[in-house]
Amino acid sequence: MKKVAVFYYTQSGQALNIAKNICQSIELAGNEVVYKEIVPERSFPYLWSRDNFFEVFPETRLGIPPYGIEEMDLSDVQDADLVMVAGQSWYLSPSLPIQSFFISWQVKDYLKGRNVIFVNGCRNMWLMTVRKVRKYIFEAGANLVGHIVLQDKAANLVSVVTIVRWLFYGKKEASGIWPRAGVSEKDVREASRFGDVILTALEANDYSKLQERLMDKEAVRYKPGVVYVEKVGHRIFDIWARFIRARGEYEDEKRAFRRNLFFLYVFFVLYIVSPFGMLVFYLTYPIRLFFVGKQKRKACYELGWNAYEKVQ
Ligand SMILES: Cc1cc2nc3c(=O)[nH]c(=O)nc-3n(C[C@H](O)[C@H](O)[C@H](O)COP(=O)(O)O)c2cc1C
Repeated sequence: MKKVAVFYYTQSGQALNIAKNICQSIELAGNEVVYKEIVPERSFPYLWSRDNFFEVFPETRLGIPPYGIEEMDLSDVQDADLVMVAGQSWYLSPSLPIQSFFISWQVKDYLKGRNVIFVNGCRNMWLMTVRKVRKYIFEAGANLVGHIVLQDKAANLVSVVTIVRWLFYGKKEASGIWPRAGVSEKDVREASRFGDVILTALEANDYSKLQERLMDKEAVRYKPGVVYVEKVGHRIFDIWARFIRARGEYEDEKRAFRRNLFFLYVFFVLYIVSPFGMLVFYLTYPIRLFFVGKQKRKACYELGWNAYEKVQ
């Protein structure tokens, strides 16, 4: 019997649901799966207000969590054969609790030398998150052996609206013209297909081909238009994050004006600039096609994935 330790942070339950579906077949095969919740020292609000949603931006983007996580009792997972971390992206980065998890000394000690799978349940922008997760895992002396990302498959601008309805007002279900927010129930359910692939690697204690096998099952969906927006956004977010933090640290009222400016900027970019950006991107798509392939290859290379053609 093998043991899998699943560390998770989730506000709505989405990330945990995905992890549970993935681990189903591992458990059914007689293995033990131990779930460990990542609990921030101070909880983040859910539902969010506009102010607190934008207040976490600079620290998330810059990777400086304002506080850590509660100490964990790890005695029951010391003998785990595999570690899974399930979380989400905030501001094109791992969420603050996930970042606090990776930089906690207790966790770093624990992860050293272990094989880790990262599971991300996000809206649709995951590339920079996995890059950062890969770095955290490397710094802990562990190996990132698998990455699974489940996203909202609605069009980018539609999911921008539905995620606000969900995270700010608790309206997750479809209503009027808006589809249901988040990763679809079908996709969450069907995440169980990854369990068989992980089980094979777990039993053989061989993770060398795990990412490739996961990609055969569509563990990663690469949308060139979204990746383009994400990369540009990531650079611009860096400037904004530094600009806001220059006025004060987390929750310092002195930075409220700059934080509100950032809100206006995001609103303007999402609803005015990005529709045109996407339009230009797709109008010039035939010319870009060559570069898209190249970019995809480069992104996969940077993440250490050999079989880039298997990225959907
Ligand atoms: C503050 C905040 C920022 C977010 N930023 C992103 C983002 O940059 N990219 C993305 O794909 N999803 C983003 N999301 C959505 C989350 O990744 C996630 O799908 C959602 O919060 C539900 O996760 P949970 O209920 O498992 O915590 C953001 C959510 C929050 C709360």
